Amino acid sequence: MECFSVDSLKYAVSFPFLDTDILIVSYPKSGTTWLQEVVTLIRTRGNPGLSQTVENWKRAPWLEHYYSSALLEALPTTARVITTHLPHHLLGPALQHSKTKVIYVSRNPKDVLVSFYHFHKMANFLPEPHSFPDFLDRFLDETVSFGSWFDHIKGWTSQINSNLLHITYEEMSLDLHGTIKKISSFLQCPLVEDEVNNCVKHCSFSSMKENKMINYTLVPQEIMDHSKGSFMRKGKVGDWKNMFTEEDSRKFETVFTSKMMENSTLEFVWE
Ligand code: A3P
Repeated sequence: MECFSVDSLKYAVSFPFLDTDILIVSYPKSGTTWLQEVVTLIRTRGNPGLSQTVENWKRAPWLEHYYSSALLEALPTTARVITTHLPHHLLGPALQHSKTKVIYVSRNPKDVLVSFYHFHKMANFLPEPHSFPDFLDRFLDETVSFGSWFDHIKGWTSQINSNLLHITYEEMSLDLHGTIKKISSFLQCPLVEDEVNNCVKHCSFSSMKENKMINYTLVPQEIMDHSKGSFMRKGKVGDWKNMFTEEDSRKFETVFTSKMMENSTLEFVWE
């Protein structure tokens, strides 16, 4: 079962973005769903009503999915939140004539890899991951679904532009309160302290894990098999240490260093 079609990709790359749109961009497993909640809650000033009654894929649809055009067209054009995993080289042209606010979320790629590996076991639209060492090799060879993590982050973060905010999963973990304030100010939606506190409360890992509008338990089993894992799995920084052997880590770092050489500022952003 595929999430995309040729038509849905064509629709995405020529999407007529508006200045009022908010676009959440990420490589898979980097904190996309978390950011969808943060943005939803900022817009409702910490009121969880929308988060608890409308599925996240309806209130912040994936631009490239085959069912999204209908969902996007149903959203009021003044307040659209859109999500995408597409790389910048595909989406950049559609964005260049708008002042769409883009929030790019990245995560330590070793944690992305581990989360993605587990997700492959439950997501029936993704291929069988086989063993962890196999999956690691495919991630480093850039042959996993959604392509190269390296090109994704380089493409988006090289866009120095006041309409793009780069945040990390790790800063959300370390200081969710501060990150929500930073995002709300970027979105020009300043919140009072109580509203920020309510956002923090409703987008904690435990609240989100319980919320059926977010935890993907409403998705049919042929798409995500919850007997094989949960979407809201661990929500931890540094879980890679439980999966990587020393050899895996050395292999990863060699490839990382060579592919990211020209982007030295990104090197330790997750530590
Ligand atoms: P793990 O598999 O490491 O637990 P995405 O939404 O981009 O697919 O990312 C999913 C990852 O984000 C999963 O990571 C999930 O648990 C984590 N996540 C989602 N909401 C979170 C939250 N509120 N706090 C911490 N991690 C969260």
